[in-house]
Amino acid sequence: MSLSKPLAVLLLGALVIIPLRAGADNEDDQDVTAALTPKLRGLLQQEMRHITDAMQSIYEGIVTGDHARVQDKAQAIHDSFILKQELTPADRKDLAGAVPKDFIKRDKRFHATAAELAAAAQQKDTAAELARFESMTRQCAGCHGRYVSQRFPGVTPSDR
Ligand code: HEC
Repeated sequence: MSLSKPLAVLLLGALVIIPLRAGADNEDDQDVTAALTPKLRGLLQQEMRHITDAMQSIYEGIVTGDHARVQDKAQAIHDSFILKQELTPADRKDLAGAVPKDFIKRDKRFHATAAELAAAAQQKDTAAELARFESMTRQCAGCHGRYVSQRFPGVTPSDR
């Protein structure tokens, strides 16, 4: 008995697609944590905890109309750049070797959005604050989904 043509095509398709998907998954797995030196990892985790605290405070500031608080905390996130402030030239070399350029680009973009949030707060513009806050939250999940995939496997890749 020979396979019907559609079924044969389907099976052949599966043979081609499965290995392609496996390859794509490997490419997507760009977890950076293992490549970071213990010092860089420690600094990054410290920065992330500061950012999380600031985001919670900003959230409260936005929904209560406390623009001064939003501005202050958003500016603090923008200025934080622990990665920039506390790195020796040797650390910088380690970092550049450990993470792809896209990671640095995302970090810069994230800090730039924080500056935009501070500007929106200065204008006392709640709608603009909400838009920036949402953008920042998406960037958190996006960076974690792509670059912290082993530690945070629950972040689905839709928004990478
Ligand atoms: C450009 C990439 C990037 C962006 C943007 C980013 N993170 Fe992270 N985040 C990381 C990396 C990398 C780690 C893992 C550090 C490690 O475990 O070595 C991490 C870890 C964390 C952790 C765990 C910290 C700990 O105690 O170990 C928290 C919480 C966190 N991020 C919150 C946030 C929040 C909130 C945002 C957005 C407002 C955000 N991150 C944006 C890269 C990013």
